[in-house]
Amino acid sequence: MKPEIVIDAHGLLCASLRYRGVEILRRVGVLFALILGAAVAAFAGDDTTRTSSIFAPISAPADAVRTIAMLVLAITAAIAVIVGGLLTYSIVRYRLRPGDDGSEPPQVYGSDQIELAWTVVPVLIVFVLCLVTARTVYDVQGAVKPPGAMDVTVVGHQWWWEIRYPALGIVTANELHVPVSDPAAPTPTFITLESADVAHSFWVPRLAGKTDLIPNRTNRMWIEPREPGLFLGQCAEYCGTQHAHMLLRVYVEPRDAFERWAGAQRLSAVADPAAAAGRRLFETTACINCHSVRGTVATGRFGPDLTHLMSRATLVAGAAPMTREALRAWIDDPDRVKPGALMPAMKLSREDLDKVTAYLLALR
Ligand code: CUA
Repeated sequence: MKPEIVIDAHGLLCASLRYRGVEILRRVGVLFALILGAAVAAFAGDDTTRTSSIFAPISAPADAVRTIAMLVLAITAAIAVIVGGLLTYSIVRYRLRPGDDGSEPPQVYGSDQIELAWTVVPVLIVFVLCLVTARTVYDVQGAVKPPGAMDVTVVGHQWWWEIRYPALGIVTANELHVPVSDPAAPTPTFITLESADVAHSFWVPRLAGKTDLIPNRTNRMWIEPREPGLFLGQCAEYCGTQHAHMLLRVYVEPRDAFERWAGAQRLSAVADPAAAAGRRLFETTACINCHSVRGTVATGRFGPDLTHLMSRATLVAGAAPMTREALRAWIDDPDRVKPGALMPAMKLSREDLDKVTAYLLALR
C-alpha cells in the first residue's frame, strides 16, 4: 500500500498563525529592538571622531550617502510598520477563540483592485528610489575638480594601502593625510584607486561611500572633509585572510598642519649614527628588496615605504600600535602577528633583531 501524504498549506498556515502567533510577535519584537539598537548606537557615536558611522558625515559625498540612506530607511520603515501592523492586527483579531467552529473563513480570489494595488505601489516605490539613487550617483561621480584640489593615488595591496602624492613627491602607507576643505575655497582631495593584486575597497564612512580598487583598472573618488580629525576606514571588499586587518586612517588637518606634515614627509630619511649598525644590517638583508627608505639603497616597492615609519601611529596596516615591542615582534615573525602576511621572517638573531628594530625606530 502506498503511504499517502497530504500537505494542506492553508491549514498549516492557519495553524501556525493561531498557535504560533505569540512566537511570531516575539520574533518581530526582537528584530525591531535589534534595528532600533543599531540605529541608536550609530547616532550616539556622533560626538567622537572615532565613530565610523555613515550617519555622521563630514564630507560632501558622505552627506549624499546619508541623505539617500535616510530616504531609503524612511520608506522601508514605513513599509515595515504598515506590514507589521497589519500582521499584528490579523494575528490578534483572528486568533483561535474558545467556541470557534473551525470552519474556513470566506476566501477572496482574483480581485483586480487588490492585485493592481500591490503591483503598482511597489513599482512606484522602486522607481522613486532608482531615480533618486541615479541622481546622487551622477552628482558624486560627475563632480568637477576645482583648482585647489589635491591628487592622491592609493594602491591596494594584500594587506595594506600604498599612498602616493605625485605632485608633492610623498610616498607613505596606511595613513592618509589631507587638508581640511573650506567651503568658501574648496580644497577637496581627488583619489585615484588602483590595486597591485586582488580587488579591495576604499571605505571611510564619514568621508565618502565605498569605491573598489580593481586590478588593471583605475577608479576615482573624492573627499571634501570640512572638519579636522582622525577618521577611520577599512578595506570593504574581501581580499584574503587578512582582509579584516586592512585598516585605514585618514587625518584631516588644518592647512598649516598639513603643510608641516607634507614638508617633513618630503625629506630623506634621517641618518641617526646611533642606529648605524641596524641600518647596515637592514641594507644587507632582503628587507631592501621590498621596502624603500628614501636617501638609502633601499628602493623596494613591494612593501610599505619606511622612510618616515615613525610618523605613523600604527603598524601592520592598523593591526598594531607603533611601539618598539610590536615592531620587534612583527619583524621577528610576521606570520604570528598577521597570519598569511606576505612579509617573510628573516630569521634574525636576537641581537640583530634589536639592531634592525633600533634602525626602524630612528626613521622619524
Ligand atoms: Cu583589502 Cu579587503
